[in-house]
Amino acid sequence: MRLLQNLFDNNRAWSDSIRAHQPDFFEKLSHQQSPGYLWIGCSDSRVPANQVVGLLPGEVFVHRNVANVVVHTDLNCLSVIQYAVEVLRVRHIIICGHYGCGGVTAALRNQKLGLIDNWLRHVQDVRHKHAPALARVGDDAQLCDRLCELNVIEQVVNACQTTVVQDAWGRGQELAVHGWIYGLRDGQLRDLNVCITRADELASAHAAAVQVCVP
Ligand code: CO
Repeated sequence: MRLLQNLFDNNRAWSDSIRAHQPDFFEKLSHQQSPGYLWIGCSDSRVPANQVVGLLPGEVFVHRNVANVVVHTDLNCLSVIQYAVEVLRVRHIIICGHYGCGGVTAALRNQKLGLIDNWLRHVQDVRHKHAPALARVGDDAQLCDRLCELNVIEQVVNACQTTVVQDAWGRGQELAVHGWIYGLRDGQLRDLNVCITRADELASAHAAAVQVCVP
């Protein structure tokens, strides 16, 4: 091992500590995974899915990208959703954003960071969609927090509108889509009160959540 020996040392210590409590933990898990949740979150290093919700390996299926965006044509994200819903049959999809998101901040300030500007156009779309309401938010920090929240709410809508989720509901599969946001300053999750369990709940739940976010 020429480089990063420390990470291999950490790994061995972690593996040993889990096996000390449950010797067959990895052996059992190697045969199958049956997570109950799909987590779609930001790539930010400070928002690790498993740790934030206290789940062990095997308990949450995870997709992360910059600013936790669900794009209708993103085959990567769509494939994760399809596999999670149709093969693993998760009961919950959690879209989790976080305050202080660098991607959302860059979108808000029109920062020029390179290729990623194109990806962050999706967050700017959210900003433009809610421009009149956001214009009423005076404070800069507040504005960023509200856009972080609105971004989650809109990505919940995007997830609900995928053919995968629509088809699941259409055949009566139990599936809830949630919008949460995580606070970097206190390590706590907040529910944005946009929990969708049926196609016909979407419009009213979306409107109510936006109303709470930017009254
Ligand atoms: Co982020």
